[in-house]
Amino acid sequence: MFMSTSAKSLIIRINFIFLAFFLVVYVALLLYPSASDYHRRAASLVRCSLLECHHKNENGIMMKAILEESINVNKLKPRRELIKREKPSFLNNIGYGMKIGMINMDDEDVSEWREHGQIVHVSFEKVPEQFEWKAIFPEWIDEEEEYSGSRCPEIPMPDWEEYALMDMIVVKLPCKKPEVGWNRDVFRLQVHLAAANAAVKKGRWDWKGRMKVVVLSKCPAMVELFRCEEVVKREGEWWLYRPEMWRLEQKVSLPVGSCNLALPLWGKGAINERYDISKIKSMTEKPRKREAYVTVLHSSESYVCGAITLAQSLIRTRTRRDLLLLLDTSISEPKRVALSRAGWSLRFIKRIRNPRAEKDSYNEYNYSKFRLWQLTDYDKLIFIDADIIVLRNIDLLFHFPQMTATGNDAHIFNSGIMVIEPSNCTFRMLMHRRKEIISYNGGDQGYLNEIFVWWHRLPRRVNFLKNFWSNSSIEAAVKNQLFGSEPPKLYSIHYLGLKPWLCYRDYDCNWDIADQHVYASDDAHRRWWQLHDAMPEELQQLCRLSAQRKIELEWNRKIAGQSGALAGNCTDGGIAVARVEIEGIEEEHGDREVGGKKLEMEGKDSTFRVHAAEESGVID
Ligand SMILES: *[C@@H]1O[C@H](CO)[C@@H](O)[C@H](O)[C@H]1NC(C)=O
Ligand SMILES: *[C@@H]1O[C@H](CO)[C@@H](O)[C@H](O)[C@H]1NC(C)=O
Ligand SMILES: *[C@@H]1O[C@H](CO)[C@@H](O)[C@H](O)[C@H]1NC(C)=O
Ligand SMILES: *[C@@H]1O[C@H](CO)[C@@H](O)[C@H](O)[C@H]1NC(C)=O
Repeated sequence: MFMSTSAKSLIIRINFIFLAFFLVVYVALLLYPSASDYHRRAASLVRCSLLECHHKNENGIMMKAILEESINVNKLKPRRELIKREKPSFLNNIGYGMKIGMINMDDEDVSEWREHGQIVHVSFEKVPEQFEWKAIFPEWIDEEEEYSGSRCPEIPMPDWEEYALMDMIVVKLPCKKPEVGWNRDVFRLQVHLAAANAAVKKGRWDWKGRMKVVVLSKCPAMVELFRCEEVVKREGEWWLYRPEMWRLEQKVSLPVGSCNLALPLWGKGAINERYDISKIKSMTEKPRKREAYVTVLHSSESYVCGAITLAQSLIRTRTRRDLLLLLDTSISEPKRVALSRAGWSLRFIKRIRNPRAEKDSYNEYNYSKFRLWQLTDYDKLIFIDADIIVLRNIDLLFHFPQMTATGNDAHIFNSGIMVIEPSNCTFRMLMHRRKEIISYNGGDQGYLNEIFVWWHRLPRRVNFLKNFWSNSSIEAAVKNQLFGSEPPKLYSIHYLGLKPWLCYRDYDCNWDIADQHVYASDDAHRRWWQLHDAMPEELQQLCRLSAQRKIELEWNRKIAGQSGALAGNCTDGGIAVARVEIEGIEEEHGDREVGGKKLEMEGKDSTFRVHAAEESGVID
């Protein structure tokens, strides 16, 4: 009996030692990052968003870099010095006994904040330096899901399960301004997203559906997430935001960038299995007063016919939203009457100059589009360029936040169709930064892309650019089939190049000029004229060619005919026709064609992919 108790205690002691040993091993394994973890992270980093992966040989380097980086981080942490920073005085009457979530505030001395309540550091794995913007904003994605579909690389977020509800979020936003590319910094976006997600997922919203978010930053927060009218107080680098949570909630539910479609138009697998619009119809059908389609005409009358056909095409989609036209005094009285008969409600604006543009240049007043943000009697606008016709109802775009658009090239969106949320303070910001921001093309597209860097991708069929970037007959066949299909498979066609109302109806006059062939499509041309012919006679009159334009057209045709560029008249399958360079044409006619508009083309260095073709650097 005595013996057995001492044996028992020995066994217990041995068990305890074993237990302790395994516990230590277990904890060590848990804390020590496993090799496979790095593999996974590296894989998510280099996961190709393009069809061909160009990163293969970088694989090793990137993984090494990640390893080194996390080692450095571990080494540095103990020696970190806390930064003493006065908390903003507006905090004094903000309340006590709160739960305050701190994001990216690890280097800050937050002891002062304790009097307001309990502090919770919300932590997450920082994105590596090598994580480039283009990984979340790739030029091309497999949006028609012909290959493997598209995927977004992961941006690490805090593990929300670990946190209780919070009453206030305090976040330090990184801002490398004025370093080049400071506004397309993935870490900056990550911290924004962590704050937005914390507010959405773990925030205690007030009865107005808002939250307190305190921002510490040299530059204002990204307007795409934290809108400027939501700033309640500011004190030096401290900003107090009270965001409307339903807006934030929608934004964080969208893909993290343009690496995935914000609007899936196709069911999995089949290209033409179109999105079932009937499901959202009930939501979009009732007319809402504060939503409208809008376009802008300024400086010349060359797009009047375009705006008329756009209005008529929108009406045919049976939309019940308002149609608004912003115009300046360059549009004469008879044209105004016709525009209003076509369906537009007219609003007069003063055009806005680009202070960086040369005087009398073709894009001098292109910042006039900023006036859209002043239409604050509307909550949401779908802006559409006047050289677009809409073929299918696009009312469902009103469900998306600013900035939602289709891709153009690289990480740029095309400003031809955009979802906009009017706001006086956004307008003031756009005006204020005109001198500072350089637009890559001197136009509004380049400018807006510097402001709204975080945008949501619409399928290219929503704003289908009429251009052909490859020389291939495959591209021509695929696109012409889309342009011509009945019922339409495209939601709109964006007429780049010479506009259809500046050509005769028989064929696309982009064929007449050698360097405009990339814009020539007789199928798209025919589609425009069908719409034209369906309009009332009085509106068609506004699309008549001027005597001057007829002379130009005849001249172009003659030269093109002489050089044989029109053999077979370049109808369907067009690009197969011999491309003949016609010397001297640009000097004589090119630049004058569209109200002094100069069409720029850039070569594409990469090999052509049919579906990437329309995204190249075209001005418009
Ligand atoms: C925006 O500004 C205009 C005039 O400056 C004003 O009439 C309008 O009420 C403002 N809108 C809002 C929502 O404050
Ligand atoms: C500038 O505006 C004109 C007229 O609206 C348009 O034809 C042109 O494409 C625009 N240019 C740029 C660079 O956006
Ligand atoms: C297109 O093809 C023609 C002849 O097939 C060639 O001369 C021309 O350089 C090509 N253009 C481009 C942009 O690849
Ligand atoms: C080619 O275009 C011309 C107009 O330039 C037209 O007269 C002719 O009939 C067309 N030919 C064919 C085969 O379509």
